[in-house]
Amino acid sequence: MSRDIIICSGLGKTFETSRGAVHVIDHVDLKVQENEFLVLFGPGQCGKSTMINCMAGLEPVTQGSVEIHGKKVVKPGPDRGVVYQRMALFPWLTVMGNVEYGPKVRGISKEERRNKAQYYIDLVGLKGFENSYPNQLSGGMQQRVGIARAYCNEPDVLFMDEPFGHLDAQTRYLMQEDLMKIWEKEKRTIVFVTNNIEEALYLADRIIVMTNCPTNIKKEYEINLPRPRNYVDKEFLALREEISQVVDKAL
Ligand SMILES: Nc1ncnc2c1ncn2[C@@H]1O[C@H](COP(=O)(O)OP(=O)(O)O)[C@@H](O)[C@H]1O
Ligand SMILES: [Mg+2]
Repeated sequence: MSRDIIICSGLGKTFETSRGAVHVIDHVDLKVQENEFLVLFGPGQCGKSTMINCMAGLEPVTQGSVEIHGKKVVKPGPDRGVVYQRMALFPWLTVMGNVEYGPKVRGISKEERRNKAQYYIDLVGLKGFENSYPNQLSGGMQQRVGIARAYCNEPDVLFMDEPFGHLDAQTRYLMQEDLMKIWEKEKRTIVFVTNNIEEALYLADRIIVMTNCPTNIKKEYEINLPRPRNYVDKEFLALREEISQVVDKAL
């Protein structure tokens, strides 16, 4: 039986700036189920990153609340992992050093954390690159390290903010495919942000279409297409067309 792991109730966010208040998130009610792959899809600058930052506890909410496992989110925590567009990997650490960093900080023994890190390095397809440094890796490989690092903390929820946004189209398809394989093997609750409709449809159990800023939920779609999905499948293309019509044009 699935259950809600994240509950956003009347979630709102207003930034106070020198030029006045900027209202970015407007009363979002949203529940995310355990092991669900949820995609937040919306135009650029609508407030997607702000949503994720509020849910991850990186940014304080100003109205309403976010709860994870029934506990109010007020600050970042090891039960939540974040993967960004450009992973801030530690350039002075190897792939192994980066991936085992979280468990190391938490005091996990060397043998245990190495085993764990190796498992996730293998899972993301970086076997053989354990001793490479980030600047020796391609953009796609760096994102793989970021995913392995986030997974290695074994968080309950993974937040991914346009993690493939800067990759070339070919690498992006490959990363989507591999992320699906990883997720199917190691189920986690994932909240994934994108403004790419194909990416959303390829990955999601459910797509939440966000409005322009101040953002709210415009519409949601359960995506029941079998996996692995095919970008040129008839139903895939029909949904792509439908959702493209619904989403706001970026301001
Ligand atoms: N720290 C901040 N202070 C003021 N305004 C901000 C801040 N962070 C984001 N915003 C504003 O919030 C809006 C949404 O930003 P963001 O969440 O990054 O959108 P998205 O990720 O959908 O592109 C933008 O107009 C942006 O200028
Ligand atoms: Mg963003």
